[in-house]
Amino acid sequence: MRILIYDDVEKLGKAASILFAAKIIEKPDCVLGMATGSSPLPVYRSLVELYEQGIIDFDRVRSFNLDEYVGISRSNEQSYYRFMYDNLFSKVNIRPENVHVPNPASDDWVGDCAAYDEAISEAGGIDLQILGIGENGHIGFNEPCRFFPFGTHIEELTQSTINANKRFFEKEEDVPKTAMTMGIGPIMKAKAVVLIATGGAKAKAVKSMLLDPVDPMCPASVLQLHPAATVFLDEAAALLLNKG
Ligand code: F6R
Repeated sequence: MRILIYDDVEKLGKAASILFAAKIIEKPDCVLGMATGSSPLPVYRSLVELYEQGIIDFDRVRSFNLDEYVGISRSNEQSYYRFMYDNLFSKVNIRPENVHVPNPASDDWVGDCAAYDEAISEAGGIDLQILGIGENGHIGFNEPCRFFPFGTHIEELTQSTINANKRFFEKEEDVPKTAMTMGIGPIMKAKAVVLIATGGAKAKAVKSMLLDPVDPMCPASVLQLHPAATVFLDEAAALLLNKG
């Protein structure tokens, strides 16, 4: 696992975006695993800049998002589908047919979860996956649990996640309580993984991810076993790494 610490979030975003740009240059039809939330935003900003400068081309890029809230329409400002269009997809030339975000309007969850995993496999798996980390150590919406869930599934969000995400909603009652999320399987099968953590609120989870034994109670700790994981931290998120 490579761990890189930056003193500035925009710099960190640029550095991580270089890995994505290199992947797109090396493999124009690469499969990117996408995340939402605040952590990947500096990376997406930098990718948009590289696209506008004519350095990278998304024409053949394919993407799979990690997760989506259940019971939220795609036009809702808080849907992850909308987030991806607002922050990246509408600003680059990715083709809509190459974009995959779990579908929150489904009435066949079991079938849809299996179909999502099948689509990832058919695409050849994920070449490069971006991840954030929850304050409770979740990746995607794989919440702390007694085991690592393998495939795409429906997850009940913990109070910690609801608390963290309520900043995006008018009131706490509006925060969806369940989400559809990629499991740990496709994340671990991704050929490379980039995890971004910024801010002091993530320091405890980062310490547990990197320094504690692998444990599904800190789902991100599984990345210790990934052969090509790079963790980008700012100084606040890295604060507890030197303290026993
Ligand atoms: C979002 C996702 C989540 C977030 C995590 C951190 O698609 O999968 O795991 O990455 O909750 O969220 P932020 O970046 O908003 O702190």
